[in-house]
Amino acid sequence: DHLQGILLIPGLIPTLALTSIAPLLTYHVVKATKDAFLKKGFGGKDLLKGNSNKIPESLGLPTSIVYCLLMCSYIPFRYGMGKSDSPQRTARSLIDNADGGWSGDMHGQRDFPHHELSSYLSSLMSILSSVLLGFIDDVFDIRWRLKMPIPLLASLPMLVVYQAGHGGTSVVVPGWPTFLRTWLGARVITLGPLYHLFILLVSTFSVHSINILAGINGVEVGQALIIGISLCCNDVLYLDPRAGQPGSFASVELRDRHLFSLALLLPFCGCCVGLLTWNKFPARVFVGDTFCYFAGQVLACAGVLGHFSKTLLLFFVPQLINFALSLPQLFGLVPCPRHRVPNVDLETMSLHPSIALFTEERPAGTLAQIILQIFSALHLIKLEWREENKRKVLHSTTNLTILNAILVFRGALPLQRDASGRVENGHEKQATHKVQISERGLWWHVM
Ligand code: UD1
Ligand code: MG
Repeated sequence: DHLQGILLIPGLIPTLALTSIAPLLTYHVVKATKDAFLKKGFGGKDLLKGNSNKIPESLGLPTSIVYCLLMCSYIPFRYGMGKSDSPQRTARSLIDNADGGWSGDMHGQRDFPHHELSSYLSSLMSILSSVLLGFIDDVFDIRWRLKMPIPLLASLPMLVVYQAGHGGTSVVVPGWPTFLRTWLGARVITLGPLYHLFILLVSTFSVHSINILAGINGVEVGQALIIGISLCCNDVLYLDPRAGQPGSFASVELRDRHLFSLALLLPFCGCCVGLLTWNKFPARVFVGDTFCYFAGQVLACAGVLGHFSKTLLLFFVPQLINFALSLPQLFGLVPCPRHRVPNVDLETMSLHPSIALFTEERPAGTLAQIILQIFSALHLIKLEWREENKRKVLHSTTNLTILNAILVFRGALPLQRDASGRVENGHEKQATHKVQISERGLWWHVM
């Protein structure tokens, strides 16, 4: 009965139906388009394989198009019937005006979820603008100082809809250290516009954070899928068919917000599964910046418009660490090479942390040195010094990413023989094979 009750929650069946076709559809669309991408010049070398074959890139574009079309197909099923609400919600809307605007009560149409529809459309708008930014980045390689603030503006429609839905701006003051609550004089404080700024920063962060934890096969899609599935599990906890009735822990609005987030996330996870089949180790396609920005924006929309933006950050802990570690390079305090992924050493056939060099023209400033020495004390990076005019100056640092930090912490990933203990003939074949094994090892460390 409980399962039947859950399936009858309005909107859930179309979401499940779209999710079930998403993996196969994405798989076939990627298969059909990948060669055309390569022909048009969208291709890249696999940096960790030690060979020079080009692999089709930017296959995040067809994936995001499949996703957006699936999202468009959802609209008539959920919102096209006019009176698509459950009887409980209609009854509730009629007696309760203060429902956070979620059901919408304009023009007497209390049973039509106006606000939910505008949340849905504003999400689609933000997602599409991120796809566009990602594709432009794939084509033109935009500079960091330009692309950093773009998602900030692209997320404004989402913020306005959040505000219109009476989105909360309060946070609970932590109980420890104890003086905090005494000092602020409250258990819960309202941040108002500061909270809105926080939301904009969250979506900017999630859009960029997936792109900078990249470069080993499957890691971009893998992390997006893991975060997506975790958020779906969190949403499912709130799908109570008895929501709003006595004895239920969830109100109808709370349930519907999580249902909304599921409607964005489940088809997204389906698309990721289809894409991962091509992008997983050994990669046959690369996803490009298009996928990274698209994925970040879907996760941000689901979290912010599902009204759990603080919880969202809990699922981004590895990305948060990677982002914090990267800040000195992103803001130009430390040189940032084009690629920061670990290096393959074909002589010793192992994966090493890659480095950023300080030169005479570009020496390390005082602030950079202080930050780098703190990171070095935490064993996150390795510094090298050289003599210059009888002075010790900073020569290089390993790049500031968690992929390199793992290699600094545990040493270069050793190479392995294949299962039979046989070493294959031919230098390149041998190198490629062995390097692939250590790339896979690194993947498991990240996940
Ligand atoms: C970001 C990172 C960069 C990293 C790159 C790898 C920052 C500031 N930038 O740059 O350090 O090197 O992503 O994606 O952190 N590639 C692989 N294997 C993969 C995926 C990608 O070798 O599994 C290579 C391919 O050559 C591909 C290229 O990475 O062509 C794509 O790089 P791109 O996404 O354009 O780099 P950025 O996002 O600018
Ligand atoms: Mg990228």
